[in-house]
Amino acid sequence: MEKIKQTKVKAMLITKPIGSIVNVKGWVRTKRGNKNVAFIALNDGSVIHNIQIVVDVLNFDEETLRLITTGSCISVNGLLVESQGQGQTVEIQAKEIELYGTADPETYPLQKKGHSLEFLREIAHLRPRTNTFGAVLRIRHAMAFAIHKYFNDNGFYYLHAPIITGSDAEGAGAMFRVTTLDPKLPPLKEDGAIDYEQDFFGKPTNLTVSGQLEGELGALALSLVYTFGPTFRAENSNTARHLAEFWMIEPEMAFYDINDNMDLAEDCLKYFICYALDNCYDDLEFLNKMYDNGLIERLKSIIDNTFVRLSYTEAITILENSQNKFEFPVKWGIDLQSEHERYLVEKHFKKPVILTGYPKEIKAFYMKQNEDGKTVRAMDVLFPQIGEVIGGSQREENYDKLYSRVKELNIPEKDLWWYLDTRKYGTAPHSGFGLGFERLILFVTGMGNIRDVIPFPRTPQNAEF
Ligand code: 4AD
Ligand code: MG
Repeated sequence: MEKIKQTKVKAMLITKPIGSIVNVKGWVRTKRGNKNVAFIALNDGSVIHNIQIVVDVLNFDEETLRLITTGSCISVNGLLVESQGQGQTVEIQAKEIELYGTADPETYPLQKKGHSLEFLREIAHLRPRTNTFGAVLRIRHAMAFAIHKYFNDNGFYYLHAPIITGSDAEGAGAMFRVTTLDPKLPPLKEDGAIDYEQDFFGKPTNLTVSGQLEGELGALALSLVYTFGPTFRAENSNTARHLAEFWMIEPEMAFYDINDNMDLAEDCLKYFICYALDNCYDDLEFLNKMYDNGLIERLKSIIDNTFVRLSYTEAITILENSQNKFEFPVKWGIDLQSEHERYLVEKHFKKPVILTGYPKEIKAFYMKQNEDGKTVRAMDVLFPQIGEVIGGSQREENYDKLYSRVKELNIPEKDLWWYLDTRKYGTAPHSGFGLGFERLILFVTGMGNIRDVIPFPRTPQNAEF
């Protein structure tokens, strides 16, 4: 076959070089036709749209054409022409076809359209070939790019927090142990406990639950930093909003108070959503049509509305006065459940809500204490459909206050001396937050389950692919 430079379908549909000989490569979505002419819908993943290949059957090898079935992979040289048919503006009149890989119609699992998302999870190795996952994965890419762009354009430096950590101090959730010790015969100390001094790092280590503590070290030198990496939580929470491995964006800002922190959270979320509307419209339109016809409207409404800012105490009053029956009863001091968060956002205010001033008992040790002695400068950003999309706070920068909180909560000082050091040497007011990347993608795509917005979900009892 003649060697012609490949054009991606996305570029082809933009530049439309009518009358030229082009090459496209991709996977066959459908083939139909009769004994004279075949129509192949080809997709190369660059864009949701297929390109139609028109094949004059008599000019091609019968056996090759027979093997071109749904799922097979081909390379096509041909003439780009305006399409006579409906549904596409251009099509390719095939001159030469090379078959790279067949897909046996008897066994290829994506034979027909309209598989359930549950079924597709069982074939996560093939689901990127569907329109839905193509759209989700392209949007996920665009959001990652937008995140780096936003922070870079605003003077933030990307800090790589470690994935393996020796501290279990954050208290954000159960951790996954990292060890090279023999599980059957670990070295033991005299008292029978495992001797981690003989482990790889000479101490117990885990996968990180958050890059925040390291982010703070960075912010107290570079002023504005963000981390963006995988985090791990070994909770057995089998919900549509939780993963055991998820990605988190954690900006950390020296000299920001809780109000600056809220301003940044609102501004960046609006930027990301705007970016999706500006750059992923075809994919959003597809998801809007197939899954959730309120999606695009909902995205626009985020950009158009100012987020409500409200204290935890005020939120409790609203929930107590509501006529709504909650599964978990409401009273001051409780950790808000997703039903409470969604009531505030979807029923009461009908826009995103930023809650601040949580009881210190239900929040992490590092949050800045308010003068009332009861609450801390925490903030959670709550979104429609999702609930909590961001959790953050102003940090306690006063050494004595932070130290007494560490003691109160029995956090081992030996794991945290380096963190406490920042409050001894040139401490500064500072704030930050964590944005759950998959929660953001859930919101932007309108998908209902977090397992469907990450290529290879890690959840309890599931690490197949
Ligand atoms: O509220 P979290 O636990 O906050 C922290 O980890 C802080 N250290 C962040 C900071 O201040 N730098 O988690 C932050 C966000 C949540 O709001 C949620 O969006 C997401 O991370 N998240 C999860 N996403 C998917 N699966 C899970 N199991 C998640 N747990 C938290
Ligand atoms: Mg949280």
